[in-house]
Formats: sequence, C-alpha cells, structure tokens
Amino acid sequence: MKDKTLLMIPGPTPVPENVLLEMAKSPVPHRSSEFSAIFDEVNNDLKMIFQTRNDVFIFAASGTGAMDAALSNLVNPGDKVLSLVIGNFGERWAKIAESHGAIAERLTVPNGETINPEVLKKRLDEDVNKEIKIVTLTQSETSTGAVNDVKTLCKIIKEHGALSVVDGVTSVGAIDIKTDEWGIDVLVSGSQKGFMIPPGLAFLAASEKAFEVHKQCKYPGFYFNWSSYKKSLAQHTTPYTPAVNLVVALHAALKMIKEEGLENVLARHRENAMLLRNSLRQMGLKLFVEDDSKASFAVTSVFPPDGVSVPSIRKVLKDDFDIIVANGQNDLKDKIFRIGTLGFVSERDILTVVAALQAAVKKLKLQS
Ligand SMILES: Cc1ncc(COP(=O)(O)O)c(C=O)c1O
Repeated sequence: MKDKTLLMIPGPTPVPENVLLEMAKSPVPHRSSEFSAIFDEVNNDLKMIFQTRNDVFIFAASGTGAMDAALSNLVNPGDKVLSLVIGNFGERWAKIAESHGAIAERLTVPNGETINPEVLKKRLDEDVNKEIKIVTLTQSETSTGAVNDVKTLCKIIKEHGALSVVDGVTSVGAIDIKTDEWGIDVLVSGSQKGFMIPPGLAFLAASEKAFEVHKQCKYPGFYFNWSSYKKSLAQHTTPYTPAVNLVVALHAALKMIKEEGLENVLARHRENAMLLRNSLRQMGLKLFVEDDSKASFAVTSVFPPDGVSVPSIRKVLKDDFDIIVANGQNDLKDKIFRIGTLGFVSERDILTVVAALQAAVKKLKLQS
C-alpha cells in the first residue's frame, strides 16, 4: 500500500496533517498586520522552545544556513576557532569557520564518542593568551547518534571567556537545551527536525555577549546579517521576504508543542528513544552508542545483524512496509543505519518500526 510512508529518518521528519493544511493556504502578504501578528506569536514561542529571553532570528534557509549565519557574524579573518568534532556535523562547523577566514583547530574524538569535559578544560586552560575566540560544538550529532554534555561544556567555555556556538539542529525541541541558564552564546536549529514542519527555515538565538562580538565583525555578510534581523524584529517583521507559508506552518506546529507542553514533548522523545533502544537490544542488535547517557533521543544508530547488509534492511523496510530509515554517513555508510525519533513521532511509530525491523531481519536471514 502506497501513500502511507513512515519517515523514521533524522529529518525531514513527519509533518502533522493540520500543519500541512495550514501550509496549503494562499500566502499571507508579508508586510501586513495579519502576518506580523502570526510572526510575533511565532517569535515568542521560539523563545520558549530555545529557553531564552533573547531574540531568535528566523532565516529562509536550511540548518546549515543558520550555522553559516552564526560564524559569518562573529568571525574576523585570522580569528581562532576551536571546533569540538564528534562527527560530520561537528566537522561542518570547522569548515564553515575556515570559509570565513578563521583558523580552525579541531578537538576530535572517534565516531560514537563524545567530548570529555576535562579534555576541553585542559585545552582551554592552555590558552593563557585567550587566543581562542569561539568554541563550536554539536549537541545531538546526527551522523552517529551521540549527544554531548552541552551544559558542562558551555560552563567550561564561559569560564575561559570564549563564545560557545552550539548546533542544536536535531536537539532543539527534542532534547533539553537551556540556552540562557547554560550560558550558550549562539544556538542554531532547523525547521525539518523537532519543529514538525518541512525544511526551509533556520533559527538562531544569540546572547548579548555574542551580539557585542557581532558588532566588531568586519564582514558579517548581507543576507544573514544579525543586525538587519534584530532591527526588523523590533518592527514585527523580517528584512527580506520570509518563507511565509513555512512561518504559517511553524505557527501551527508551535501551537501543538505548546498544547502538549515542552516538558512533555521532551519526555516523549526520551521515552520513545529508550523504548526503541531497549527493543533493539532485545532483538540482539548492537547499538552504535551503547551508553544511554551519551545517546541522542533524536536519532539511534544501529549495527545490522551478522550476515544482513544495511542496504538490504533499508530496502525491505521501504518495499514491504513503506518505512524509511537512514543509512550511515561517509565512513559509516553501509556500516550502521539510523532511526530518527524526533518531531511528530509517537510510541505507536516506535512499535511499528520495531515490528517491521523484526520481520525484515527474519526475511533476510531466511534468504541468506
Ligand atoms: C546536527 C546537524 N547539524 C546540521 C545539519 C545541517 O542541516 P541542513 O541539512 O538543514 O542544512 C544537520 C542536518 O541533518 C544536522 O543533523
């Protein structure tokens, strides 16, 4: 049976029907009081989800756009950036920093592992001349399914004095992240993840300290310039034509999140991820990140059983059950598969994917 696809990838994630229906309406003119009213409410709700009192800028871009907007507004050529790399997306920060003329130093751990706070502290303690201006990090590393202890890492970064710039693309709205309380200077995310809407919007929250550094940035670029977004926000609008229908969709999705309550949304992600992890263990499958305390609740990476390949599992899940799970990325391609559990995902979806996986493995083992 077609047209009943279950997206279990770490983005894009399933979109609720009422959100899709809102999106299908004729575009609202963006320089209208009708749009401004929606936009104001969206901005307030974003602050609640980002757990910040500061503005959250909305860009018409994917998550990488917000990552670019983070560093382009802070970095001057020759600045030193320390990138904490626990997978592909941590490495992306370093590449973006270099693209803006920064000198990126990488603190890298093997795939599946997370940054040891003591190692970060040691490196920052060595930086007696305070050359490191920015530390970039990822909360939920989607390529591996590992999660960094952002609270502890950002405390260490704050004590050093550098700015912390955090990728929350697959964590905001799925895993707790307290922007202001944990002293995060910049936090970015993207719409097609915990926000339950299609790709196309990117979000960025910046602390006052980060904004002061931005003011010293010589080449902040044009489209993503924070100052333009801040000025427009005060006028209840955006500097350029916003992705109106996505903002309307976001308005509907945020209403759902408010109705469920952020605490409950985060608890649902934790419970669903743990249900999945424990079910996979019961099936005898090996998890890529075995320690639950280091595992993302947004995405779970799994090794295939002996004698069964990742492409064959993905194919049977798609052909027989119309369920889509993701392959590993880069070095991990065909070595692991990844099951997304973020956004509009219920316990029933988890039970469905587990049952389908059991059937797929049984079928493939009989064939081998
Ligand atoms: C942790 C993380 N960071 C950044 C990105 C990049 O986002 P986008 O593909 O929307 O540009 C992704 C996308 O999957 C991600 O998972």
